[in-house]
Amino acid sequence: MTGVEAPKVTQEVPERPRAAGRQDWTAWPKYNAAGRGYRGYWYPVTWSSHITAKPASYTICGEKLALIRDGGKVYALHDRCPHRGVPLSEGDQQFPGTVSCPYHGWTYRLTDGKLVAVITDGPDSKICGKLEVQTYAVEERLGLVWVYIPVTREPAPPLDEQLPRELVENDGVVGGRIQARAGDWRFACENGFDEGHAKYLHRTALWRLFKPMPTWNVTRIVPDGRWIYRVQDEVYWEADFPEVGRWTNKRWWKKRPDESQVSQIGNVGAGLEVNPVIAAQKFPGFASLSMPGVLRIAYPNFIHYEFYVPVDDGRHQYVGLMVNFVSGIRKLGFYAKYLGAIRWLFHGQFSGQDAWMVEVTDAPPEKLYRPDVSLTAWRNLAEEEYAEKLTAAVDFVKQPVAKTRERRAPAARNGAAASAQTVSSGE
Ligand code: FES
Ligand SMILES: [Fe+2]
Repeated sequence: MTGVEAPKVTQEVPERPRAAGRQDWTAWPKYNAAGRGYRGYWYPVTWSSHITAKPASYTICGEKLALIRDGGKVYALHDRCPHRGVPLSEGDQQFPGTVSCPYHGWTYRLTDGKLVAVITDGPDSKICGKLEVQTYAVEERLGLVWVYIPVTREPAPPLDEQLPRELVENDGVVGGRIQARAGDWRFACENGFDEGHAKYLHRTALWRLFKPMPTWNVTRIVPDGRWIYRVQDEVYWEADFPEVGRWTNKRWWKKRPDESQVSQIGNVGAGLEVNPVIAAQKFPGFASLSMPGVLRIAYPNFIHYEFYVPVDDGRHQYVGLMVNFVSGIRKLGFYAKYLGAIRWLFHGQFSGQDAWMVEVTDAPPEKLYRPDVSLTAWRNLAEEEYAEKLTAAVDFVKQPVAKTRERRAPAARNGAAASAQTVSSGE
């Protein structure tokens, strides 16, 4: 029998046209691999007031931590009982200086993570003392708990070496907000230092209701120590776009900017009186960024910091701090202003616009434009600094054991910022 063969149906999947521009981030291999953040840095985890004798669970750089306060000090342990993998943060304290797993009562010493008692195996348990869970260096500063996530088993360097210097050397009052956010921490960091967006995305923010913003700038990136700065060479408050027309952020109800000069403090124009501590820093530009993702924006009366803390793939924690370098009765004025307005307008709605963009950013591929020199400069900085850090960590591991012990001596705690008062506990 001869039949007519049915025509073969081949389903052709049309190839997606190649996106314009950069296809991937392999030009920055370490940055490309840092979806869970960079190990070898201190990270702000939560407000000090949130850590009590009841253990709490946090994830930083993909690492699960159990944080607990004992005798006034905060300890961090890897949040996994080696017995059957139950989180220690689900447990509690049965003996001072320890935490016990809720399942079978394996009990770990907070200072070094050693298994010091196994409640359900009796006082002469053979396994006791034979294992330990990893512990992490912890410090409290600026009203926050900071944890060091090591590259290997290197000792934590002093936190003050990583904190912005002006926070270590000056007393201040801190207002802040901590939020768990969706999106890669690198998108959050790039958004923070992104030259182009603030003048456009935030034009509708209430925080900017009475403050003018330029239409576009000519910007340079200037490295200085471990920071890179955005330096504004030219500021344009309005512009005529061929074919489409005029565009400006100026409105009759907004304050008129001083267009005669370019300010490097804040982005609302020159002519404002600057707090002496902020003026003394002589920042080359008002926006600066350093590893491992710390943004600093200098305004005339305060400095705003953003720490983009990697949690795990596609999730990060936003830690926004506003620091006023004032003392005495003027601190009360800041509390009132922060809780009454700044917290809601700046750390709320304004910053919420950033959170929205970070959540929906989808790159690479990407086609960068002139203002994105801020992004590429940051990636270059990250790539370079992290290469040095990895080399140092590998060198440490190669050292003989006796020497590594010596270097593990705990860092001295100092710095005026340790006494800074904080307002608002965030979420
Ligand atoms: S799982 Fe922790 S004691 Fe058994
Ligand atoms: Fe923004």
